[in-house]
Amino acid sequence: MRRARPAPPAPACPGPPDPACPGPPDPAGPAGPGHRQAHDPTIPLPYRVVGTFAHTADTVTLTLEPTGGPSLDFSPGQFTMLGTVTAGEAPISISGGPGGDGPIEQTVRDAGGVSRALARSRPGDILTVRGPYGTGWRVQDGAGGDILLIAGGIGLAPLRSAILALLANRPTYRHITLLYGARSPLEQVFREDLAGWSSGPGAIDVAVTVDHAPVAWQGRVGLVTRLIPQARFDPGSTLALVCGPEVMMRVVADSLSDAGLDPTRIRVSLERNMECGIGLCGHCQLREYFICTDGPVFSYSQVAGHLATREL
Ligand SMILES: Cc1cc2nc3c(=O)[nH]c(=O)nc-3n(C[C@H](O)[C@H](O)[C@H](O)COP(=O)(O)OP(=O)(O)OC[C@H]3O[C@@H](n4cnc5c(N)ncnc54)[C@H](O)[C@@H]3O)c2cc1C
Ligand code: FES
Repeated sequence: MRRARPAPPAPACPGPPDPACPGPPDPAGPAGPGHRQAHDPTIPLPYRVVGTFAHTADTVTLTLEPTGGPSLDFSPGQFTMLGTVTAGEAPISISGGPGGDGPIEQTVRDAGGVSRALARSRPGDILTVRGPYGTGWRVQDGAGGDILLIAGGIGLAPLRSAILALLANRPTYRHITLLYGARSPLEQVFREDLAGWSSGPGAIDVAVTVDHAPVAWQGRVGLVTRLIPQARFDPGSTLALVCGPEVMMRVVADSLSDAGLDPTRIRVSLERNMECGIGLCGHCQLREYFICTDGPVFSYSQVAGHLATREL
């Protein structure tokens, strides 16, 4: 049965108080006020595609700028309802960095009707953007400690926004480690970023693995969980951000718990089918949560028992 909601609520953590609840997005974003101005997030705005970058055969990053007015003010981890005039809308995370008045970046994998139309966009096309919506990663909660980011497949896209925010405030954090797993070398996204993030001043530790590889592949082969024991982090002062297929997030979160991380310090980003994106239609309901407004970022302590549940 769907939970009824009369009006779109402010993003919040329902149920008993949870100190790790990511809570509503920081309205100023980590870059603080004065960068991108707020607008009514329920109104779709026309954005022009000003660039496309194909990562794989089916995944592309779109660079989008508003046709008029300011760009979006968002926090890492938030998503928009991104659409074409003819195909409809789909929830897509923002993969670019917050702050500034420049274009936004969103990374789309062709999974079907709407996402195919989005992934086939060309420079000059007009898309519609509603949002930003949902809770963010709230990377600032990890200030002073270690940060562990673990991504699977296109899950690196929502985490990239967090990585760029962390790098913009690099001295605030101790060790930052990214563990990335893809199905094969050809299915890795943001390859250039992976190389850049692990070199130069303020570099972070980056370890990459693939499930399967051709003989010529010189890197690691195996599941991303195998990288966890080699990562440098102090379990008592680490914030972990995890994004990927649901089964991967569950296995990773359980491994991190076994390594000593408190589940309240492990955050995961969930996906469900969405229509309204603002807590009205109930399409995204997962037990007591609406993923669009209570999530998509949750602490593992909130959703550990729900991860295997697809649709209710
Ligand atoms: C908060 C959030 C953030 C997201 N961020 C991104 C992103 O950054 N990049 C990206 O490429 N995709 C992202 N997605 C997933 C994306 O929204 C879906 O792939 C898209 O809506 C599929 O719709 P479609 O019309 O293209 O395909 P359809 O033809 O409707 O569906 C294609 C297949 O995908 C399945 N499917 C549809 N929606 C989902 C879903 N939400 N979760 C799991 N399976 C689904 C369908 O059952 C079907 O098997 C996100 C989803 C959510 C909820
Ligand atoms: S309630 Fe409509 S998408 Fe979440």
